[in-house]
Amino acid sequence: MDIYDYLKMDHQKVSHLFKQFKNSDSAKRKKEIIAMLLEELLIHLKAEQDIFYPVLEEHASSRQEAFHGREEHNEIENQINRLLNDKKTDKNWEEKVFKLKDLVDHHVKEEEGDIFNEAKKVISDDEACVLKEKVHYRKLKYKLDFEKSTVET
Ligand SMILES: [Fe+2]
Ligand SMILES: [Fe+2]
Repeated sequence: MDIYDYLKMDHQKVSHLFKQFKNSDSAKRKKEIIAMLLEELLIHLKAEQDIFYPVLEEHASSRQEAFHGREEHNEIENQINRLLNDKKTDKNWEEKVFKLKDLVDHHVKEEEGDIFNEAKKVISDDEACVLKEKVHYRKLKYKLDFEKSTVET
């Protein structure tokens, strides 16, 4: 598996969680789904920024796509922070989740389209498999850090 299929798999996981959120009737279940979704999303963004985007930034032809990707990550992270800082009783909470979904859908479309297209021009097939391994291990590291910080607080 290469970096592209690996990242697509993550995107599908997140999209599935948004769907579960929408279909759930229980407020408690919705909160659980969002906790999972935000964790998945944050770890995915961080690993892409650490491993994938820097490779694109090394090449003039793909640099702009990576910068644009980072800008969209910032917008997504800001929306995640709004959700995390909100009181869960806030009536606009669900609306904020759907706003996050719109931002994520838009970004995924661009990433799997323009960003992957430019990446494939500058990353060899072998490198694309190595990058998949690196992203995978970086995500595991962030997952452990995330769980440690949740246990400690
Ligand atoms: Fe992504
Ligand atoms: Fe991304």
